[in-house]
Amino acid sequence: MSDLVNLQVNGVAYPVQIATDRNLSGVLRDELGLTGTKEGCDDCECGACMVLLDGQPVNSCSYLAVQAQGREITTVEGLADGDELHPLQRNILATGGVQCGFCTPGMLMSAEALLERNPDPTDEEIRIGLSGNLCRCTGYARILAAVKATAVELNGSGA
Ligand code: FES
Ligand code: FES
Repeated sequence: MSDLVNLQVNGVAYPVQIATDRNLSGVLRDELGLTGTKEGCDDCECGACMVLLDGQPVNSCSYLAVQAQGREITTVEGLADGDELHPLQRNILATGGVQCGFCTPGMLMSAEALLERNPDPTDEEIRIGLSGNLCRCTGYARILAAVKATAVELNGSGA
């Protein structure tokens, strides 16, 4: 069974005919060509598929695309402002928090949601905010440093 759904992604409307059992990550990647969102475990474990739904982080591998209709979806492609990287993107590059890069889009989306709800997070709050995202390469310290640097940059603080 399929349905015509209208997905709002990064401020753009995408009418798309999809099977009702398709997960959101698959539709973003395969139908809309937004391959920044990664698929790792497909089982709500790794966070590689993290996107924002109305600002809240969601594992898109485990969310039906049809349920996203009427909600604002933000993917990693929506972070930069044209050619200008989002501060989180700039800082994760500067701190060396990107190695293979597979976890990076999901990390960035969780970090963005964290800083939106808590612009001045402690180290512990950053760790908790990113606890749904696994990284096999970096040991996490440089990713945490990037989030902290972004908080300092945006707020002039960052506990
Ligand atoms: S691919 Fe979605 S949580 Fe791993
Ligand atoms: S940079 Fe490779 S999984 Fe995180």
